[in-house]
Amino acid sequence: MKTGNIVSKLYDSKKISIYMKNIRVIDPVRSLDRVMDVQVSDGVFKLINDNQEIGVTSCIKELDCSGLWLIPGLVDMHVHLREPGEEYKETIETGSQAAVAGGVVAVAAMPNTTPPNDTETVTRFILDRAKACASCYVFPVAAITKGLNGQQLTDMGNLVEAGAIAFSDDGNPVMDSTLMRRALEYSKIFGVPIISHCEDKMLSADGVMNEGKVSYELGLRGIPRIAEQIMVSRDIALAKYTGARVHIAHVSTKESVDLIRKAKTEGLNVTAETTPHYFSLTEEKVYSYDARYKVNPPLRTQQDINVILEGLHDGTIDAIATDHAPHSFLEKDIEFDFAAFGMIGLETSLAVSLELTRKGILSPAELIAKMSTNPAKILNIPFGFLENNGYASFAVIDPEEEWVVNNDDFYSKGVNCPFEGQVLKGRVKFTVINGRVVFAREEYSWLAK
Ligand code: DOR
Repeated sequence: MKTGNIVSKLYDSKKISIYMKNIRVIDPVRSLDRVMDVQVSDGVFKLINDNQEIGVTSCIKELDCSGLWLIPGLVDMHVHLREPGEEYKETIETGSQAAVAGGVVAVAAMPNTTPPNDTETVTRFILDRAKACASCYVFPVAAITKGLNGQQLTDMGNLVEAGAIAFSDDGNPVMDSTLMRRALEYSKIFGVPIISHCEDKMLSADGVMNEGKVSYELGLRGIPRIAEQIMVSRDIALAKYTGARVHIAHVSTKESVDLIRKAKTEGLNVTAETTPHYFSLTEEKVYSYDARYKVNPPLRTQQDINVILEGLHDGTIDAIATDHAPHSFLEKDIEFDFAAFGMIGLETSLAVSLELTRKGILSPAELIAKMSTNPAKILNIPFGFLENNGYASFAVIDPEEEWVVNNDDFYSKGVNCPFEGQVLKGRVKFTVINGRVVFAREEYSWLAK
């Protein structure tokens, strides 16, 4: 049973009115992390400073929010919504519902749909569908190459005009370095980033998991870590050569972290993301032969996790995204070798990532920066901060609430949650976009009435 309500869609939900007492407000942009009061009156968000005259109207419900956090709505810069074409796996409607249930107010939708988002028609279709049925903002990422087949560039100018905010062939690398160079040169003209799926296909070949001790033991074909390293290295070199912006997607190895750190010390235009599964799960999970642990790039080793955590801590890795990649039983409840790559993550990402604050790797504000402010900056979209005296987009969370992950409870149609059965700590209570309640857990559903 779902333990929340999608209160309503983005454009037609009710503006929230509430006075939240003693809530911990975390806003990386104004370096704010303090317990205070917040008033939201008919959608207008107001931080209440000490001794401030507030003029609470008697009709606003007052709520003691001790123990809860108020954070800018999260921005997930890497999700697969599967629409158009694979609506049996996910739709813009269900994927965006999963997003708001996870505290996410804006997602960047990857182009490996059917057909792929390689024309303005598909970009516009995604935006139209989002307007009609999404619970959060959906920003289309268009393909770098036509058909995602690495042969010919898409019409990048027209795609940007139609609404694409970045380019990626995610799911596939751009193997041809000249094509990648040209894509970077064009992206510079249009002021949008290239999001690179770093994988040398010749090296990864038919691999299904990380190459190493576990793959040898299990007799499964391995994907060597160097398949990622070589492409991260190439794309950093191309970023340097062209002066364009490269964003490295789903960093999974220590070598990638080292390369990105060095690029940043040289002042290159390189940013990077990792995902919760790359800092919380290792290749040992594959001993189960459970295809929920099949993902590309593959789960690596504890040593990789340690270096990824260092990279998060020292700022080498700018963002935490999910790479939410929903699949159905048809693609996942089969032999490991034949199963599709991918894991869902929108409804678990915040809880898994909050663990980083408990381990002292990130402060709460640093975590929120990586899950909200930084991805918004990389994509150049107006999110990741709390709009004081305006229509803010935010989430209220209980960082201490424990819950057992049950894939059946999710809004996502994907069946491939790698944290199934685990107890996680941290839960979204309600999510507000532009002053409107879009999601509320059952106990807060009165907010929309
Ligand atoms: O595991 C993955 N699944 N990695 C990708 O890069 C693509 C994604 C998908 O679309 O299923």
